[in-house]
Parts: sequence; C-alpha cells; structure tokens
Amino acid sequence: MNNPHHNARVEQAIAQLQRQSAEPVCAYIYDLQALRQHAQWMKTALPAGCELYYAAKANAEAPILQTLAPIVDGFEAASGGELRWLQQQQPGRPLLFGGPGKLDSELAQAVELPHCTLHVESLGELDRLAHIAARAGRRVPIFLRMNIAVPGIGDTRLMMGGKPTPFGMDEEALPLALERLRHSPSLQLEGFHFHLMSHQRDADIQLALVRAYLDTVLRWRSSYDLDVRMVNAGGGFGIDYADMRQSFDWQRFCDGLRRLQVQRDDDLRLRFEPGRYVSVGCGYYVMQVLDIKRNHGEYFAIARGGTHHFRTPAAQGHDHPFMIWRGDRDAAIEREKVSLVGQLCTPKDMLARAQQVDALATGDCLVFPLAGAYAWNISHQNFLMHPPPQMLFLDCEPVSPSHAQR
Ligand SMILES: Cc1ncc(COP(=O)(O)O)c(C=O)c1O
Repeated sequence: MNNPHHNARVEQAIAQLQRQSAEPVCAYIYDLQALRQHAQWMKTALPAGCELYYAAKANAEAPILQTLAPIVDGFEAASGGELRWLQQQQPGRPLLFGGPGKLDSELAQAVELPHCTLHVESLGELDRLAHIAARAGRRVPIFLRMNIAVPGIGDTRLMMGGKPTPFGMDEEALPLALERLRHSPSLQLEGFHFHLMSHQRDADIQLALVRAYLDTVLRWRSSYDLDVRMVNAGGGFGIDYADMRQSFDWQRFCDGLRRLQVQRDDDLRLRFEPGRYVSVGCGYYVMQVLDIKRNHGEYFAIARGGTHHFRTPAAQGHDHPFMIWRGDRDAAIEREKVSLVGQLCTPKDMLARAQQVDALATGDCLVFPLAGAYAWNISHQNFLMHPPPQMLFLDCEPVSPSHAQR
C-alpha cells in the first residue's frame, strides 16, 4: 500500500483477525506504540514549564489512557462519568473537570477528589460549587473559564468562544465572580481557562491566541490584584484528514512558545489539554467488503460495520481517507470510482463517496486511518443492533470482553 498512513503492524493484525474467524472483519485497531511515540514527541517539543493534559473525551479507552499516563501531566474530564472512569483507570493522576451544565452531584464528586481542579463555567456554577465545597469542608482549586473576544483571530469550523456561546464566562462577569470568590474560602482561584475553538490548523494564529490569553491574564492580575500563575490555553489543535501535511504544526507552535517565553518576563505558566491531536493517529477502523454493486451507474462497496461504529466521516462531513488491504480474490472492479458504505439502511451510512480505486473485490478490507479520536465513542452504536467492532490494542495486554463491549 503506497499511502502515508500505511502501518505494517496494523496490516499484520488484520491478517491475524482474518485467520481467527470465518466472519468478515470489523474492528478498531489501535497502535499503542505509535501513540506513545507521538505523545512523547509532543511532550518533548513543549518548552520547559508547559503542561500537557489529555482531553479524555477524544478517546478514553483504558489502554489509551494507560499508554498516555506516564507521558502526560494528567487528564481532562468533561462529565461526572469521565471523571469516575479516569479516577478508576488512573487513580491519583491529576484531573481537570470542565464543561457546561455540571450537576450538583458531579461537582460534589469532583470536590472529593484530591487531585482535581475544576473549570468553572458561570456565576451560577461558582455559587453552587462554593456551597458544595464548603459543606464538604474542602478547599478546591479552580480555574475560571473565560470567553473573551480576540480581534483578528478568525474562526475555525468549531467555535466555543470569541462570540456568544454557552461556554465560559463573559469578561463582564469577572468582577462579580472575583467578588464572590473573595467571600468563598472553600475555593482557591489558581488560574484562567480558555478554549475558544477546535480544528485550529494554523500554529501562528494559535500562538497569537496564547499571547492574547497571557496578556489578558496579566491585565486582570494587576487590575484585580490577583495571585494566579496558571493559564490553561485549551486544546483544539486541528487535523486535516485529507492531507496530514496541512494539519496543525506542533513543532512550529512549540518553537514559537519558546520564543514567547524568552520575550516575556512574567511568571505565568501554560497548560494545554488537547484530545484529537494526541490520539487521532493511533486508531484504524477496518471493514471487510461484503458486496460490490452498480446502482444507477455508480459503484458501491458495502462493508461490514458503518457509521454506527465510525461516525467521524458523518460528523466531519468529509470523505474519510482509506487504504485497501487486498485479499486473494480477483478484482470485481478496476480503475473505477466507488462509494464506501456500511450496513445501515440509511444513505447517510457513507464513509467516502465516489473514490477512485485501482482494484477492489469482496473480501478485501477497507482500512480507515485517523480513527483514534472522536470515532467509536461518538458513534450511535446501538442503531440496528449490529454487534460492536472487535477492539484490538497492539502492543499491550489483551482487552477483556466486557471492556470491548463498552
Ligand atoms: C474545554 C475543552 N478542552 C479541550 C477540548 C479538546 O479539544 P480537541 O480534541 O479538539 O483538542 C475540548 C473539545 O471540545 C474542549 O471543549
């Protein structure tokens, strides 16, 4: 396979899956060695003093967390469920708890965790948390999540801030929040949190954003006489699924951060909490072709599985990149365009439309790379009650069946 995503370990694993079962293959294969190397590279590239957390919402499978745990500084959770799972899987690791609409019970759960910092999203949440923490007799570290406008920064496809959104607090609310904090000994303000956008592919714009966050926090620090040292600049480093060379340039970003550190003379420390950029590359979704047909002049390859396992192409509205792992049958089509679809009875079950292929036969495997983030966990898995895909984690302990069903 002449493809930048080609991975010999994954190819061997597919052959193994085929040997093990007479049923057509439908599986997620995760290359944990690649994940480890990538995360280590990300961490090493960061300047000293910058922290790297992993946003578990991208993919919280146990072996993924286990692989990342020795490398990252901690994990970010966006619900009580994620918090519980992270605490179970990686007890004692530093946790961040963010996201809008937290329940009182979730706040109480977080307050009980000794290594958990809460990202407060609104004045109402601040009040509830202060009360819950005081009742529990705890003093909890918090960051205020702020939604600020940064002029000239532009939009990405997924904006969480810089405009009216449900996320974070308006700068107008800050004086009131700080006033309430002065009367809330149960809460310790340690920093400010910003996550204005995901799918950011421009490292220079992201650097400008980080600079704006730091300037803003310095301004607040002096205007309100605050003793905060940390700025969480979020995640959102983007992937170009069609052309990885256009993805966010992490090395360029980290080099820019290092220059920024030299230029600035302050004691603010940076923390990042990416998800997609960390784990996307380690996952592959594999579907074996069941049928190839021509319909109204177009070819369709129907393969085992579909968007109920792998919603990413539908969620992103794109044709997902793929590779073909040829079996031993003669090609049913050669040098044709073919749409790659799953088993669902909806035309939306489309993974890539009208794609040029050299050759394809039933029994071949379609291998979709870049399936390690926002893939299985965002899919509508129960629709039509097809069985779940197999889960294969290369370079680690076998996964128990109960976990594979999760
Ligand atoms: C607050 C926050 N932090 C981090 C992330 C992770 O974003 P990404 O996976 O794009 O890096 C998200 C994603 O929605 C988020 O909302």
